[in-house]
Amino acid sequence: MNELIIITGANKGLGYQLYKTVLSSCPKSTVLSLSRKISDDQKQLIDDPKNKRFKYIFHDFNIDSYDEKIIEIDILLKKFKKIVFINNAASIKPLGVIGKLDNKTIADSINVNCIFSMYFINYLVSKQKGKELTIVHIATGASNRPIVGWAIYSSTKAMVQMFINNLILESTGNEKIKIFSIDPGVVDTDMQSEIRGNKDKGAILTTRAFKKLYKDKQLIKPEIAAYEILKKSELI
Ligand SMILES: NC(=O)c1ccc[n+]([C@@H]2O[C@H](COP(=O)([O-])OP(=O)(O)OC[C@H]3O[C@@H](n4cnc5c(N)ncnc54)[C@H](OP(=O)(O)O)[C@@H]3O)[C@@H](O)[C@H]2O)c1
Repeated sequence: MNELIIITGANKGLGYQLYKTVLSSCPKSTVLSLSRKISDDQKQLIDDPKNKRFKYIFHDFNIDSYDEKIIEIDILLKKFKKIVFINNAASIKPLGVIGKLDNKTIADSINVNCIFSMYFINYLVSKQKGKELTIVHIATGASNRPIVGWAIYSSTKAMVQMFINNLILESTGNEKIKIFSIDPGVVDTDMQSEIRGNKDKGAILTTRAFKKLYKDKQLIKPEIAAYEILKKSELI
């Protein structure tokens, strides 16, 4: 079946490895990257007239108009029988204890981690009708417990997790909709470098704990995490 796999934040980290693994392991799938940057190899693919399997729509979840992007996506969606959405893009910022957080960065985080995800999933479910729809939410253990210095990340991820829980409940009995919420573990991406680079003294114990995981080589390679996610969500 021809399927469209939409990945947010496919330019780097886990999202980039998800894009690579889909292209190499799912020959019938087309990837749509909804991201604000494009990697060099993705740019080459877009410029290649023979390319039919990779599409890119620029989207910065902080500044772009959601409604304008949906018009573009809507045209593409009509061509596919099965739609998969991998809700991957997220921001760990602002890192720091409450009292020192910057309001603009809080608002940006809510836009990226929550608002776009909820708008877009609401839209996809409204368009589902006879199509098959799979939603894969990239979850985190941080949404289940407070972590010093991570108040915004934890609470925004918890908000989307509850939205997903609701979707699971509301989709009961609809065999055309599959929903997965997958925590990849601690993955070696730029998000982890940002965590290790946090200078807030109030969050020193958190920073130390993650530096130790890195030093002890406990981080999961993004390509392994991506493969596991696609396997668990029955895409490979
Ligand atoms: N790394 C971990 O240990 C870990 C653990 C558990 C869960 N996760 C989850 O895994 C997912 C991927 O994280 P990662 O580790 O790969 O993080 P990452 O390396 O920081 O990548 C985050 C992605 O989100 C994109 N993004 C952020 N703000 C954006 C915006 N305003 N507009 C468009 N795109 C934006 C980034 O794009 P730019 O390059 O343009 O910023 C990037 O592509 C997230 O949902 C995270 O919560 C990660």
